[in-house]
Amino acid sequence: MNSFNNSISKTTFSLTTPLYYVNGLPHIGSAYTTMIADVIARWQRLCGNEVLFVTGTDEHGQKIQRTAEQGGIEPQIHCDRIAASFRDLWEKLNIQYDRFSRTTAKNHDAIVKEFFEIVWTQNDIYLDQQQGWYCVACEEFKEKRELLEDGCCPTHTNLKAEWRDEQNYFFRLSRYQQALEELYQSNPDFIQPETRRNEVLNFVKQGLQDFSISRVNVSWGFPIPNDPNHTIYVWFDALLGYITALLDENEAPTLENALKKWYPFNLHLIGKDILRFHAVYWPAMLMSANLPLPQQVFGHGFLTKDGQKMGKTLGNTLDPFSLLDKYGSDAVRYYFLKEIEFGKDGDFNETRFVNILNADLANDLGNLLNRSLGMLNKYCGGVLPPILGKNIPDENNVKQIGETLKYRFPEAYKIYKFHLVCEDALILVRNCNKFIDETAPWSLYKKGEQKEVEKILYTVLESVRFSAFILAPIIPNVSNKIYHQLGYNFDFNQKDLGVKTYIDRGHFEWGILPLNQNLPKASPVFVKLEPPITIDS
Ligand code: MSP
Repeated sequence: MNSFNNSISKTTFSLTTPLYYVNGLPHIGSAYTTMIADVIARWQRLCGNEVLFVTGTDEHGQKIQRTAEQGGIEPQIHCDRIAASFRDLWEKLNIQYDRFSRTTAKNHDAIVKEFFEIVWTQNDIYLDQQQGWYCVACEEFKEKRELLEDGCCPTHTNLKAEWRDEQNYFFRLSRYQQALEELYQSNPDFIQPETRRNEVLNFVKQGLQDFSISRVNVSWGFPIPNDPNHTIYVWFDALLGYITALLDENEAPTLENALKKWYPFNLHLIGKDILRFHAVYWPAMLMSANLPLPQQVFGHGFLTKDGQKMGKTLGNTLDPFSLLDKYGSDAVRYYFLKEIEFGKDGDFNETRFVNILNADLANDLGNLLNRSLGMLNKYCGGVLPPILGKNIPDENNVKQIGETLKYRFPEAYKIYKFHLVCEDALILVRNCNKFIDETAPWSLYKKGEQKEVEKILYTVLESVRFSAFILAPIIPNVSNKIYHQLGYNFDFNQKDLGVKTYIDRGHFEWGILPLNQNLPKASPVFVKLEPPITIDS
């Protein structure tokens, strides 16, 4: 039976990255979530599904207000500059997002207001006194016990939490304790991975407390309807940015319009530090407004650099712009997708980066294509032999691997095990290299065993094609080069390519390379990287 039928069916898929704070230039942490989201979006499209991929920026609140003040510029000008740099980065990283949601966009105000009023009507908002420690970098109140001895929060160890004692509007989160517990029970996949789900279950078990959704003394945000002394809390505003993103351009900004097509979201991709907001506060807010809930919240791990924690507020970030200028988008995407088990923490180290890229893409994959195309030229006049996958004996080890991969890799994409996708493709590639060494087509050719030589070259070239297809959502440019050298005019950066592959499902399987196709001359698909000296941080 066709693996494709088992695991994929044509449908729509909507997903989001967090809306990134614009308190500084984008760093590799934001790039990480976005590249994963892009891989998922590309995979979904490749399967022929209709996809809406939302990213954007979170631009209100005290943190942004202070940053703009410190820079001596108007907050909006500051936000415009930083939002533009996010867009630049996504272009460099070859991100194919569909919507870029900005919380200062003019249609967002109306959505926030409408939502706030529904929640207000539900009697889920009330005025009370808020006392507590506030971490401006997290934009979150912290329990005293959550802070380190010096008064900083564990995520922002160079910024002390500030004491607040003010009147705020509160959201009646406590009312949703039971409904949330039922949600987690009846939808075990709602929060993933399992470790994050457990964190949330433990947190909720302790008893949910109402949280404040307004601030005084923060002017950079939306005023609370009917009480302009208060500004809507940045998180309440930002989460709704996901919904605003669903509005078509120039469409009247109403919830009804926003929710009509892509809602509810299939996936919110986030980092583990903002899990509570997405897995507890957000579903409760939606329940209050009587709106359907997202299907899944996936909280990934944190990146470290050379074993050390990094972050905007800590000031030891790895600059994704220089990384991309130096190595290109495919290399960066491959490293983070292959080297980090999605969901767990992972480290960036430049030497390791170069070694992995050179080993996997330049040597194993690139050289394999190069040497096999070289042989095809020499032994078969540069024309694909008149062979089909079914003519290759079933005992052929490479064919066997190829045939199992057709089941494995869609499943790996489906459960976000991207490192396994990469490993699987590489297993195929490495076995091909071994296969060539063992069968020595050059000696067979000398002995006049042309048919055998052709079978070997077919097996290998088809495996390179299949690996390129498997890896296309991760390294689309390399996959393009491979496909072109195998005589296809595919463009994996074309957004509606999936429609073609959806119809022509053969690409998802091993054994489809067309016969008698004339191939162009080989050229390197991935140029070997120089060992690192240093890179800006
Ligand atoms: N503005 C909020 C999100 C609002 S969503 C409606 C926010 N922004 S953020 O810019 O601070 O963080 C965005 C994402 O970057 C989060 O998912 C966070 O986990 C992620 N990362 C920040 N530092 C990171 C690493 N060092 N490693 C991996 N991801 C990290 O929170």
